[in-house]
Amino acid sequence: MNKKAVHRRTLLAAVPAAMALAGLPGRGFAAAAGNPFPKGFLWGAAISGHQTEGNNSNSDIWQLEQLQPGPFMEKSGIACDFFNRYAEDLALAAQLGFNAFRFSLEWSRIEPEEGRFDDKALDHYRRIAATCREKGMVPAITFNHFTTPIWFAKRGGWEVAGSADRFARFCERAVKAVGEFAGIATTLNEPNLGRLLRVILPPPIIADMGKAMQGAAAMVGSDRFSAAQFGDQDAMLPNLLEGHRKAVAAIKAGPGDFSVGVSLALVDDQAVGADSVRDKVRDYLNAAWLDAAKADDFIGVQTYGRNRFDAKGVMQPPEGVELTQTGEEFYPQGLGATIRYAHAATGRPVYVTENGIATADDTRRIAYIDGALAAVKVCLADGIPVKGYLHWSFMDNFEWIFGYRPTFGLVAVDRQTMKRTPKPSAAYLGAIAKRNGAAA
Ligand code: BGC
Repeated sequence: MNKKAVHRRTLLAAVPAAMALAGLPGRGFAAAAGNPFPKGFLWGAAISGHQTEGNNSNSDIWQLEQLQPGPFMEKSGIACDFFNRYAEDLALAAQLGFNAFRFSLEWSRIEPEEGRFDDKALDHYRRIAATCREKGMVPAITFNHFTTPIWFAKRGGWEVAGSADRFARFCERAVKAVGEFAGIATTLNEPNLGRLLRVILPPPIIADMGKAMQGAAAMVGSDRFSAAQFGDQDAMLPNLLEGHRKAVAAIKAGPGDFSVGVSLALVDDQAVGADSVRDKVRDYLNAAWLDAAKADDFIGVQTYGRNRFDAKGVMQPPEGVELTQTGEEFYPQGLGATIRYAHAATGRPVYVTENGIATADDTRRIAYIDGALAAVKVCLADGIPVKGYLHWSFMDNFEWIFGYRPTFGLVAVDRQTMKRTPKPSAAYLGAIAKRNGAAA
């Protein structure tokens, strides 16, 4: 099948659905003529270390995965073997048409024991960042994407004093290796996710997460163990905020000249009824972070759909709506609402650092991309400085507690052979990237 045929077929399938979803007759992304996106707009895809590298055995999540049965449906194992295959993956991303690539540094590889930094690991990430540049892609570097070293979890993780200083010390060392190549950087990935999970998940699941930490503590012979989403979120918040602040300073003091911010899990939260708790919940989830982000260079928006809130709390998705593999409502236009919310609250430029869908049907991913980009385009037309769109994910990978079943990737990964096969959505987003969002 030649590329053109794939493109035409997928485009035809996607356009009407995207228009209907965006609720904007005639203004679906692919159909919209007009100006391309702003010059220098970043187009790309995102991954994280633990979810793709493989054998990340010094990290807290790896330890938690060993509890079987436990919260994780399967173990991450070799993941996508990105650790060894990054050059091939970055070449593919560039060839698809992307000018940016988001990846994360794995703290537990760089600082496997407290205070001992591994030069080989630092050099590894330096080569990834340099390879992005060689391929014409701006590296969007996440300094921490959830996972922390086991030694950090054993001393109480983000719940205890001193965690912020340890994170800042790691950032100070890491930026020396990668700073000269960085294009943008985020300190923490979704530090508000732990609270979000407590709003949307049933209490028994949260209780199980607490038990899992006791199990992990016993396995490593410690009296405690704390991993980002699993521990006491109220105890963590001040340390995470301090960690972010100190990390920004440490990163900025290093080589390179690039924008630094934090990326947040932001949902299109909608109020239903006059007594809706929506605003209260939003404050609990995001207020401290949006306030902190006012001092940053940008705000990173990561959106997957919407939540509706009535007087009692979060509601089930409406009857009969399409659900993704992770049980979320198919709702790409929600990205417009979160961009507006984040920008209004912070006054900062916006990078969409994640946005995507878990589906086995790639035509739905194309429709999702279309609906999301239509919403971005309306934000741009309204004067909101959106500076990039990084799709989650570049490839199918380890989706945390769900394991490998949900597929978020633009590129399929054969779990036996590790062979990469770009899906039509990869060519679709790549083609949009190549023409900087201009109409086809
Ligand atoms: C996270 C990713 C995750 C994605 C899809 C985001 O919350 O940053 O690590 O895979 O959502 O669930």
